[in-house]
Amino acid sequence: MTTVGIIGAGHIGSALAEGLATRGYDVVIANSRGPETLADLVARLGDSVRAATAVEAAEAADWAIVTVPLKAVDALPAAALAGKVVLDTNNYYWERDGRIAALDDKQTTTTRLVQEHLSGARVVKAFNHIAAAQILTDGTPAGTEGRRALAIASDHADAAALATAVYDELGFDTVDVGSVDESWRVERDRPAYVVRQDADELRANLARAER
Ligand SMILES: NC(=O)c1ccc[n+]([C@@H]2O[C@H](COP(=O)([O-])OP(=O)(O)OC[C@H]3O[C@@H](n4cnc5c(N)ncnc54)[C@H](OP(=O)(O)O)[C@@H]3O)[C@@H](O)[C@H]2O)c1
Repeated sequence: MTTVGIIGAGHIGSALAEGLATRGYDVVIANSRGPETLADLVARLGDSVRAATAVEAAEAADWAIVTVPLKAVDALPAAALAGKVVLDTNNYYWERDGRIAALDDKQTTTTRLVQEHLSGARVVKAFNHIAAAQILTDGTPAGTEGRRALAIASDHADAAALATAVYDELGFDTVDVGSVDESWRVERDRPAYVVRQDADELRANLARAER
């Protein structure tokens, strides 16, 4: 049985916990306020989902998902995530996260910031450009005409492969943007951001993105 550690139990974290639990994964999920505040969520999602602290979720994980506001990235448990593949759903909302000069100046990407903090982990950008609820509603079997596609970006081939497999399990095709440094193409306000698109449309939207 594969255990997925999910750090962040909001819109995206809870949707992914549900999607993965219904596909046979064990899930350990954490927020900032403590496991007791997740009692309703884990009761709803069933026996394969349990709540824990962020460190415990990271330690229990065969692979992990970090899905917290970007401003909280520096609080993620880097030591406990070292050596693991980590899916990163982050986007930069300066209205929420505060101004981050290196992003405003286009010197870095949100996922580069995550990879730098989690320097011992193998980070892959994933699920950042789909609305949370659509994770559970928009998936279709492989080969379906017009199947929705989602982007990944990583410096690590095994992380990219894992995210690709997870997308397929949840019903999505994958388009690989390339390295984490290229992931600006799928960040907020770019043509590919949170629109329904198949793989060809996503590739076209990534290609016409301007930094
Ligand atoms: N909502 C979407 O449709 C969507 C789509 C794609 C990508 N995203 C991106 O994905 C990330 C998460 O989005 P969301 O909408 O799911 O956010 P959200 O609903 O606000 O949930 C954020 C979660 O992160 C937890 N958290 C905050 N600081 C933490 C810390 N230091 N340690 C552990 N957990 C912490 C929060 O816990 P507490 O509540 O206990 O503080 C909460 O469970 C954001 O970067 C967002 O931009 C969102």
